[in-house]
Amino acid sequence: MQQATDQNWWKEGIVYQIYPRSFQDTTGNGVGDLQGVIRRLDYIKSLGVDIIWLNPVYVSPNDDNGYDIADYRNIMPEFGTMTDFEELLTGMKQRGLKLVMDLVVNHTSDEHAWFEASRASRDNPYRDYYHWWPAEKGTPPKRWSYFDVDGNAWKYDETTDAYYLHYFSVKQPDLNWENPKVRKEIHDIMKFWFDKGVDGFRMDVISFISKDTDFPELPQKYGGDFVSFYSDGPKLHDYLHELHTEVLGKYDVMTVGEAPGIGLDKALDFVDAERKELNMFFHFDLMALDREENEVFLMRKDSWKLPEFKKIHSEWDQVFARKGWGSIYLNNHDFPRSVSRWGNDSVVNWYNSATMLQTFLLTMRGTPYFYYGEEIGMTNIKFDSIADYQDINTVNRYKIVQNEGGDLAAFIENEKAASRDNARTPMQWDESTNAGFSLERPWLQVNENYKEGINVADQEEDHNSVLNYFRKMIAIRKAHPVLIHGSYRLLQENHEHIYAYTRTLDEHLFLILLSFSNNRSSITLNELDFEEAKLVISNDVEAEKHQGKSFELAPYQACVYRLL
Ligand code: GLC
Repeated sequence: MQQATDQNWWKEGIVYQIYPRSFQDTTGNGVGDLQGVIRRLDYIKSLGVDIIWLNPVYVSPNDDNGYDIADYRNIMPEFGTMTDFEELLTGMKQRGLKLVMDLVVNHTSDEHAWFEASRASRDNPYRDYYHWWPAEKGTPPKRWSYFDVDGNAWKYDETTDAYYLHYFSVKQPDLNWENPKVRKEIHDIMKFWFDKGVDGFRMDVISFISKDTDFPELPQKYGGDFVSFYSDGPKLHDYLHELHTEVLGKYDVMTVGEAPGIGLDKALDFVDAERKELNMFFHFDLMALDREENEVFLMRKDSWKLPEFKKIHSEWDQVFARKGWGSIYLNNHDFPRSVSRWGNDSVVNWYNSATMLQTFLLTMRGTPYFYYGEEIGMTNIKFDSIADYQDINTVNRYKIVQNEGGDLAAFIENEKAASRDNARTPMQWDESTNAGFSLERPWLQVNENYKEGINVADQEEDHNSVLNYFRKMIAIRKAHPVLIHGSYRLLQENHEHIYAYTRTLDEHLFLILLSFSNNRSSITLNELDFEEAKLVISNDVEAEKHQGKSFELAPYQACVYRLL
């Protein structure tokens, strides 16, 4: 039987996520590309990370930046060619890096050949590749859409006098997984990439793939929460198990499913190794912490509290303590920058916040996922005009507020904290034009703070930079398996400013203290023995202060101790 402590490359690995559009432009079109990633491979390797997750690079009209795929077997021309892709893979293999691609199969682009055929006539052989509701049955039962300007997931299509389903934008029609031909197509796409040498998939909104195709009214038990309903499809686990039997089980690859709507109670159904489904998934409990209930994009009015943050991580750690394995992240291309969101990006607190959060991810159990720029502490851009935003999510939600005569100024304030574009600004490489990302106007504005030390080149020079702290902290995790596999114990769960926990494996015991406060704070830990205590690392310029069992931490200070 597989144990949580079993070793595995995807458990021990550290993931670095690249949003290729924003990483490095080499052609001068203002858009990042695969040659740009190739150019930066030595840098990525130098960080100490092991696995690159690349956001979608397939042919796409880019209604949702590549999450609307028109051809699963070719590379988006803006990003390069298949030859570039193969060169990237070879370069990664030479450096011992693994590549995880994005698999987007809940939906395709409406410009995919399957959908063009499907919408052409009711008797087209591709008709059943998607979900259609004939208009003579009346208006279909309400389904909510993430990016639709009317919030409606059914779009009427005149050609065949029917509605098609799209949980995301109108240009992202949902595939019909009930159809075995669709599933076979998906299996073949996965094999195509695995046979090229790809090491795994991050599976986009995988919890949404199964639908009750009678399309009933939203059952009452979901209390109006469409996300829970969407992730509770009747055949979800049959499909995932089939993916394993037909494809995944035949390769040494990793899978991490994006799983909105999946709570603690269902976690092991996905990742208990004996069930043969996925290796890991991303839950959304932390991402919902600073949002209004059931409002994924609306910032909560009161601010989040540290005990809530601890509770989420402690419960999720517990769920995978014996079976399965966790994945842990603080930001990605869909959520704002971690230092702005969970720390404090003001000049005085930025450094400690960014490094404290890195310390957190690298001392928790579960595979840590970092997002490009997190290693140098990139921050939210906080655009204050709708004209600056590119993301379909912000742009279309703005239109909804406008159509409803709502408060547009309040909307923009919300987006300064919530918009996905905060996390999509170009990588900050150096102090040259456009932060060294591109010589031409970038597709999304560069954050001006690249001139103030938030760039790779400056931080390479400084031994104590956020970047070099990141490298040191990674080396510490790798040198101490207790930080990867050890059991986790939360201390003083109600402390409002300090997150304290231990990690234990065999005779090894580590203590981690993290301040989430703007002020100095202290904690007394009577339950532990500090006779042999050694400080392994601290992010603050001030030496750590402890007297007996009492510790005093500077704002956002992180301290890692080895007690045994
Ligand atoms: C996922 C992706 C997001 C995308 C959506 C639709 O949530 O992470 O970027 O917009 O799915 O594919």
